[in-house]
Amino acid sequence: MKQMKIGKSGIEASVVGIGAWAIGGDSNWGHSDDPESVRTIHKARELGITLLDTAPAYGLGHSEEVVGKALEGRRKDYILSTKCGIRWDAKEGSLLMERDGVRILRNSKPESIAEEIENSLKRLKTDYIDIYIVHWQALPEFPVPISDTMGFLMKLKKDGKIRAIGASNLNEEQFAEYVKYGELDLIQEKYSMLDRALGDKFFSLCDKNSVTFQCYSPLERGILTGKYTLDSPVNMGLAKSKIKWFQKENLVKIVGLTEKWKPLCAKYTCTMTHLVIAWTAMQGNGKNVHALVGARTTAQVEENVTGGNITLDPADAAAMKKDAEAIS
Ligand SMILES: NC(=O)c1ccc[n+]([C@@H]2O[C@H](COP(=O)([O-])OP(=O)(O)OC[C@H]3O[C@@H](n4cnc5c(N)ncnc54)[C@H](OP(=O)(O)O)[C@@H]3O)[C@@H](O)[C@H]2O)c1
Repeated sequence: MKQMKIGKSGIEASVVGIGAWAIGGDSNWGHSDDPESVRTIHKARELGITLLDTAPAYGLGHSEEVVGKALEGRRKDYILSTKCGIRWDAKEGSLLMERDGVRILRNSKPESIAEEIENSLKRLKTDYIDIYIVHWQALPEFPVPISDTMGFLMKLKKDGKIRAIGASNLNEEQFAEYVKYGELDLIQEKYSMLDRALGDKFFSLCDKNSVTFQCYSPLERGILTGKYTLDSPVNMGLAKSKIKWFQKENLVKIVGLTEKWKPLCAKYTCTMTHLVIAWTAMQGNGKNVHALVGARTTAQVEENVTGGNITLDPADAAAMKKDAEAIS
């Protein structure tokens, strides 16, 4: 698997990572099979995926617990990222959402992060996090200056509890503040072939500041694997319901792409999933975009890993982009 640098942190990771959101289960993804999730995390590493991403909010602690179980005796084999800034187990903060009767709040105050990191370390059964990411940014109704958040993250770094700092779901002004007040190594943003806006906004800013752009949901939660036909039953959790491509009138366009790309799949002896992952990892300047792909079965990870090993001809990548632009 190709490797890349994560910002200026000195950390190197596989260009394709595994995301453990679905492993958390709950109403976002429906039931996940924990023993299979553990096998999936092990299989990913065996096949060359080193970066593993989770968050306290995924299954309200459950994803981190499963990851902690998988990492027992193998911690050093993985570049582990988890997040802060989202609480369901505290009262203070601004409302991100209400789910399954639980109020989920944004709170990136240092006192709150101080509690969060200890909880994460316990669930993950480790004493350090490789990349610690502010999951969602503060809202005006519960304002927290980024200088305070970043100041505390820098202290965690100095104390050896974290090795690198990331931020997620942010705008350009917030990016500038993170860079101003500390050492930002990575941003994690939604980006796929069908949803390119945040890449256009951040790719060159990331290059200028030596910050890695990590794409989340590059498969649009599974639709870009080409596994769905117009008649496929879809086990729609909340996570998929937010993706417009699962609606029949849009799905028909994805089915069209699957057909159109058959010759490309033949050329590279690969699947649509491989094409899409390979395309994602070569965006920006070709060295600074990380593809974070979710998986919760060994079969999925076995397929996804190959995407990180394929190099597309630039002309093919440009043609794929044109096809994606024509429908999105
Ligand atoms: N910072 C944030 O706010 C944020 C937000 C979203 C995600 N993330 C991170 O980014 C990661 C990836 O994003 P994502 O999980 O939303 O979306 P994704 O990577 O686009 O899609 C992942 C889902 O696609 C399906 N899938 C994956 N590989 C497959 C394959 N080879 N064949 C068929 N189906 C396959 C699986 O769903 P099924 O098993 O249901 O089919 C899987 O859970 C997350 O796990 C999380 O770590 C971060």
